[in-house]
Amino acid sequence: MNKVALVTGGLSGIGKGTVFELAKRGYQIVIFDISDDKAEDVINQAMQNGAKDCVYKHTNLFSSEEIAESFDFIEEHFGKLDCAFNNAGFGILNKPFGDVTEDEMDKLWGIDVKAYMLCMKHEIKMMQENDFGRIVNNASGAGLVSVKGGALYAAVKHAVVGVTKGAALDYATTNITINAIAPGTIATELIMQYKDKPFFKDWLKSNPAGRLGKPSEIGRVVAFLFEKDSSFINGVILPVDSGYCAGNFK
Ligand SMILES: NC(=O)c1ccc[n+]([C@@H]2O[C@H](COP(=O)([O-])OP(=O)(O)OC[C@H]3O[C@@H](n4cnc5c(N)ncnc54)[C@H](O)[C@@H]3O)[C@@H](O)[C@H]2O)c1
Repeated sequence: MNKVALVTGGLSGIGKGTVFELAKRGYQIVIFDISDDKAEDVINQAMQNGAKDCVYKHTNLFSSEEIAESFDFIEEHFGKLDCAFNNAGFGILNKPFGDVTEDEMDKLWGIDVKAYMLCMKHEIKMMQENDFGRIVNNASGAGLVSVKGGALYAAVKHAVVGVTKGAALDYATTNITINAIAPGTIATELIMQYKDKPFFKDWLKSNPAGRLGKPSEIGRVVAFLFEKDSSFINGVILPVDSGYCAGNFK
């Protein structure tokens, strides 16, 4: 295995779970994140799991300059990029859309849409030079359906779905595929910080399986979409949610 994979937000939650799944498959991994204090532990675990290499590059994804510098780092360190999981992001707690602030709109647009798009532009350029590429964007079930109180998060995740489908068509005749996954509620640091809140018991029931998903259950799907032989899967938005997007289950 001589494949280089980027995971944004790879120091926590779904990104970290994906790093470990890629490590088991022998990838060379680069992580863009800002949680510097978590890097050493994640790198050590990735190497123990079988990664051929694992490096962390501090990258605040709100900065187009830092993003550009970090892709230069990939070029210098690895000389190529084969696969990318655009994943770093967050939401806000549900509330009626009229109560959403401009600051919240800017933050969610910045991290969940603009940063994905900026990274995709660099990834596509490097993958064209490489004559091969696999891009997976982390959308959400909220990229396919919304919930009451979730309009802003649904709006940005629907935008991820839109850019995934459009860009997939742009490069369909090349060896580059662009897909998205739409996870249900997953037991990540982002979610578990609310475990003592009264609304958390509703989150526990929010997937049809009646339990939270595990980051590894998402990471293995990303690893599948990264495979060379997943070559005819393009422009797909794949729910990984035990059936949440299949219909009303309550
Ligand atoms: N957890 C879920 O239930 C769930 C469900 C569907 C989709 N998602 C999506 O999955 C993605 C990851 O969520 P998670 O639950 O694993 O979250 P998480 O908080 O556990 O991990 C997110 C990572 O992104 C990093 N990050 C945040 N802001 C950053 C920035 N400005 N620059 C660089 N890195 C930054 C954090 O440091 C962290 O390591 C998000 O896009 C989220 O919307 C999560």
